[in-house]
Amino acid sequence: MSADIAVSRRGAVVAIGFDRPGKKNALTSAMYEAAADAVQAAESDAQVRAILFHGTPEVFTAGNDLNDFIARPPGNEEAPVFRFLRLVAEAANPLVAAVNGPAVGIGTTLLLHCDLVYAGDDARFQLPFTRLGLVPEFASTYLLPWVAGYQRAAELLLLGEPFDAARALEAGFVTRVVPAPAALETAWAAADKLAALPAASVRNTKALMKRAHRAGIEAQLAAEGADFRRMLHEPAAREAFAAFLEKRAPDFRGKGV
Ligand code: COA
Repeated sequence: MSADIAVSRRGAVVAIGFDRPGKKNALTSAMYEAAADAVQAAESDAQVRAILFHGTPEVFTAGNDLNDFIARPPGNEEAPVFRFLRLVAEAANPLVAAVNGPAVGIGTTLLLHCDLVYAGDDARFQLPFTRLGLVPEFASTYLLPWVAGYQRAAELLLLGEPFDAARALEAGFVTRVVPAPAALETAWAAADKLAALPAASVRNTKALMKRAHRAGIEAQLAAEGADFRRMLHEPAAREAFAAFLEKRAPDFRGKGV
């Protein structure tokens, strides 16, 4: 298990924490593997009734670790990142999230799969995929238009600019915005409430709400994954990643993109 994923348990709630604050909790393949293992273990434990995702006090996650992505690009659907995505998308337990600080890339798209999302008023979201020469992942091209409406989703996914918690609330994928220091305890309280309810009622209610969208989510995960894996190796992404490593703005001119 990766030391950068903190798994804790309180009663019937398992909390999975992104815990690499020196790198803004950016997710490496080892972290995806550990997070996927934690979700799988929680899902197969009949005593677990809710799963809670959180970051550290200053940051939820800066998304994929770009250095790790360059060194170990996910080659196929069995790559740790895609395993994590599938397990989360298919989770039967209710998923709760507490968001503080930056929630970039998968830090935002993960929330589209959560049932209850509590954002601190310091939360800052971004879906920077077009700026990285990539396409969005985690079925966000399906879920965000559904949740936010097409034009609102298009602005967030096509322009890829950062946005605040009020805008995320308006887009519909945040349940409630709370003062920053209260985000984690609000999420824990909600997870505890879920865990105190009859588990089958909670799980079946979630499954019924998601039922009409299962096939769409699955198909979109596959379509996005195919584009994403291919585009990782194309000039636009290569330039965006080089720019990140060199701490400069990307320059796509003259690169055929
Ligand atoms: N991958 C790898 N390293 C990352 C990272 C990422 N996605 N995000 C941040 N880091 C690293 C930085 O390189 C820096 O490392 P260093 O101290 O060794 O130089 C450290 O984390 C701190 O990041 P910094 O950019 O200085 O923090 P900040 O508070 O100014 O900004 C963010 C925070 C999250 C807004 C900014 O780091 C960012 O935009 N990161 C990239 C996000 C991204 O494009 N994710 C990919 C999505 S697919």
